[in-house]
Amino acid sequence: MANDITFSMIKPEAVKEGNAGAILKMIEEAGFKVSAMKMTKLSKFRAGQFYAVHADRPFYTDLCDYMSSGPIIALRLKKDNAVNDFRKLIGATDPQKAEEGTIRKLYARSIQENAVHGSDSDANAKIESDFFFSGIEKY
Ligand code: CMP
Repeated sequence: MANDITFSMIKPEAVKEGNAGAILKMIEEAGFKVSAMKMTKLSKFRAGQFYAVHADRPFYTDLCDYMSSGPIIALRLKKDNAVNDFRKLIGATDPQKAEEGTIRKLYARSIQENAVHGSDSDANAKIESDFFFSGIEKY
């Protein structure tokens, strides 16, 4: 489907370290079209809502602290097979397990500070992009 979408965030440490431009370049060169983009800072509460599915995990509190520690860049991206292709582009959650040439292998610091988020299903891509973008912000 030509209008498949996925949702991504460039996470606080990647923005702080000045890697947002290089990461966006990789995303565009891999054939993704930016359909919406926003720099914003999540409160702990909003980070907790976004990652509510992980609320029972031991890393949840740290994750919410980290994701609210600085600005992030939220992205809605379009491409055929967007969810799966984007997950291949970013690599495994743990950068030590990520393949060479993936965004996380190149830019992540740790399993938590892993540079980017990518949706894990079409349904979550819609939920996650609607969390950040209203109808008139999506192109
Ligand atoms: P993300 O793909 O955004 O989805 C959930 C996030 O939780 C993940 O990236 C990491 O930032 C974080 N995460 C996942 N597993 C762990 C873990 N074992 N320890 C710490 N943080 C984790």
